Amino acid sequence: MAIARRRRIAVVPGDGIGIEVLTEQKQLLALVNEQRKLGLELVDKDWGAERWLKEKVGLPKGSLEDLSANYDAVTFGALGDPRVPDMAHGREILLGMRQGLDLYANMRPIRCLDDVLSPLKGKGEKEIDFVCFRENTEDLYVSLGGTFKEGSVDEVAQDISINTRKGVERILRYAFEYAKKTGRKKVTMTDKNNAVRFGGGLWKRTFALVQKDFPDIEADHLFVDVAAMEFVRQPERFDVVVGNNLFGDILTDLGAALMGGLGLAASANVHPGRIGLFEPVHGSAPDIVGKGIANPLAAFSTASLMLDFLDAPLEAKLIDDAVRLAVKKGPKTPDLGGKAKTADVTAFVLDAVSSGL
Ligand code: NAD
Ligand code: IPM
Ligand code: MN
Repeated sequence: MAIARRRRIAVVPGDGIGIEVLTEQKQLLALVNEQRKLGLELVDKDWGAERWLKEKVGLPKGSLEDLSANYDAVTFGALGDPRVPDMAHGREILLGMRQGLDLYANMRPIRCLDDVLSPLKGKGEKEIDFVCFRENTEDLYVSLGGTFKEGSVDEVAQDISINTRKGVERILRYAFEYAKKTGRKKVTMTDKNNAVRFGGGLWKRTFALVQKDFPDIEADHLFVDVAAMEFVRQPERFDVVVGNNLFGDILTDLGAALMGGLGLAASANVHPGRIGLFEPVHGSAPDIVGKGIANPLAAFSTASLMLDFLDAPLEAKLIDDAVRLAVKKGPKTPDLGGKAKTADVTAFVLDAVSSGL
C-alpha cells in the first residue's frame, strides 16, 4: 500500500516515568505504523532535566520554529525531576510549547472504561463520560508577577492572572464547536465570577455572547467549587466542560480519578491548523520511577488522540479498542489494583493490536 502522506512526530519523553511510558508508546506506534503503513516518522528530542542540569538548556533555541515548520505533532511524556525543585525546565519546555505554539485548547476526555474502575458508588461507564476543555495559554500560567523583599518576613509575592477577550472567546467557541461536531448536547462553563471580579466577569460575559451562536447546545454554568462537587456527586450531568487554565488543571486530575486514576487519562493540546501536542495528564511520578510499574495506558490513549489528529481515525480507534480491552481483560498495574508490570500491559495491547483485536 502506498504511504498516503508523511507524518512527522517529535518525541519528547522528558523525565521520570515520562521516559518509561513513551518507550512503550513508541513500540505501539512502530507496530501500527508497520501494519498500516501510516508514514509515521518519529524524531527523538532530549529535552528534560538531564539536559537542563548539564547545559541549562530547556527548549533549545529555534525549537518552536522548527516544530511549526517541520513537524505535524509532538508526543510528550512528562517533566519533573527532584533535582530541579522549582520546575524551571518544565515551565520552559512544556509551558513553552503550549504557549509558544499558541495551543490554546487542552482537551482532556474523562471516561470510565469499566465500572470496576470507578471510585464512585453506583456510577460507572454510563455515567462518567464527558470532555473537559482547559484554556491553555493564559490565566496564572503566564509567569507574570514578582516578589518584593524576597526571603524576608515582609516578603510580598504576586502572580498575575491574564484573561483576554480573544483567549476566552476562542476556547469557549472551541468547546461549543466540539459539542456540535460530536453530538454532545451541553457545555458547562466553570469559573469563579462571584469572587474573582474581572477575569470572572469577562468569562461570564463572553460565555453569554458565544452561547447565542449555538442555539442547539444547552449552555450551563457552575462555579468551579460546585463543579468539583458535582464531578463526584453527579458526573452524568456533564457533557462538555470548559474553564480557565488553573481550574482546568485541578478539575481534570479529579476527572482522572473518576476514570480510575492518572494512569488512564490522556490529553491533546491543539490550535486548529497548527501542530498538536499530545501528553498523558499525569506527571513524572518520582515515587514509582524505575520500578517498571508505570501504567502505560494513558500514553496509549494519548497516541490514539494523536493518530486521530493526524487523520488516521481507524488506527486511533484500533488503539482505543485495545486500551478498552486491556482495562477489561488485560493485566493491571498496581495503580489499578493489579500486580502487573508496565511491560505486561504493553505486551497485551501490542498483541491485541497485532491481531486486529
Ligand atoms: P504525578 O502525576 O507525577 O503523580 C501523582 C500520583 O499518581 C503518584 O502517586 C504517581 O505514582 C501516580 N501516577 C501518575 N501517573 C501514573 C502512571 N502512569 N501509572 C501509575 N501511577 C501513576 O504528580 P506529582 O507527584 O504531583 O508530580 C510529580 C512531578 O511531575 C512534579 O515535578 C510535577 O510538577 C510534575 N508534573 C508534570 C506533568 C507534566 O509534565 N505534564 C503533569 C503533572 C505533574
Ligand atoms: C499538567 C501539569 C502541568 C500543568 C504542570 C506540570 C505545569 O500539572 O499538565 O496538568 O499545570 O499544566
Ligand atoms: Mn495537572
